[in-house]
Amino acid sequence: MDPSSFDPEPHLARPWHLYDVAALRLSLLAKRPFAFHFEAVLPDTRGRTETRSGTMTGRQLVRATSRLSQGKWLVRLAQLAQQRCGGGPIKILELGACVGISGCYLLAGMADGDGGHLVTCEGSPELAAMARANLAAFVARHRLGNVTFEVVVGSFAETFEPLVTPDRAPYHLVFIDGHHQEDATLRYHERCRAVLHPRGLIAHDDIDWSDGMRRVWKTLEQLERDQAIIELYQGNRPSRAVIFYGDPPLQPRPRYHLDSVPERLARQAVAALQTAHAG
Ligand SMILES: C[S@@+](CC[C@H](N)C(=O)[O-])C[C@H]1O[C@@H](n2cnc3c(N)ncnc32)[C@H](O)[C@@H]1O
Repeated sequence: MDPSSFDPEPHLARPWHLYDVAALRLSLLAKRPFAFHFEAVLPDTRGRTETRSGTMTGRQLVRATSRLSQGKWLVRLAQLAQQRCGGGPIKILELGACVGISGCYLLAGMADGDGGHLVTCEGSPELAAMARANLAAFVARHRLGNVTFEVVVGSFAETFEPLVTPDRAPYHLVFIDGHHQEDATLRYHERCRAVLHPRGLIAHDDIDWSDGMRRVWKTLEQLERDQAIIELYQGNRPSRAVIFYGDPPLQPRPRYHLDSVPERLARQAVAALQTAHAG
């Protein structure tokens, strides 16, 4: 596939898989507040390991997980990874499982083709248990016989390195959606790059989330200047980026909007109100 003709709309043989995941995400709203804890090196702790514990609500979960528009491009990326890497089962690595919503989308995309294996990592044992249950139920409900998954629990500081050793290679798609700290993101990227299929994809979420993420995305753009890169916008702001390895740079770089024009305007208005309120 030529990345200049990237179509974020997946064409699935069983499109209802998408709506099933979207419904699962919305059903989280009904969840009673639950206790969770999390041990990780976080952006604001300057490299120290921090334990966070508290109560989480269904609403917070919904906000933290991929909405349908984002899920569609995850399905699309899984399909593309398969096509670009010559067909056959693929391997996907995801950093940041939360409760497995993005993982379900990735499984749906893989299952639509030749299947494969998803490795998804989560620092909170409570969220990881929910991810495992949601992914297992999704696979069983739709009888997805050609996909498997594993949920790796623990701080990336401990779990990541053993997942990117040469014997684990190659991954065909990597989705980095957690621990949005500048240095950590650069390290995850470089380590994943080393075990990526030559025509694989790396997707970064939240490239405009903080000053650190904006800086690291500039560094990565420079590092990967010989590859094709596309940017995905949400609410008229850069949100995610995908690097297509083995394809030449695209001039000008394509930008795609994940949301419709009314959604975009609504998001922009909310952001403007929040800024005005903060000021
Ligand atoms: C934005 S959420 C992931 C959302 C999910 N990919 C989706 O779209 O449905 C990020 C997740 O990464 C986890 N996380 C963040 N930093 C981490 C770290 N250093 N180690 C382990 N997990 C981490 C958080 O607990 C959170 O559940």
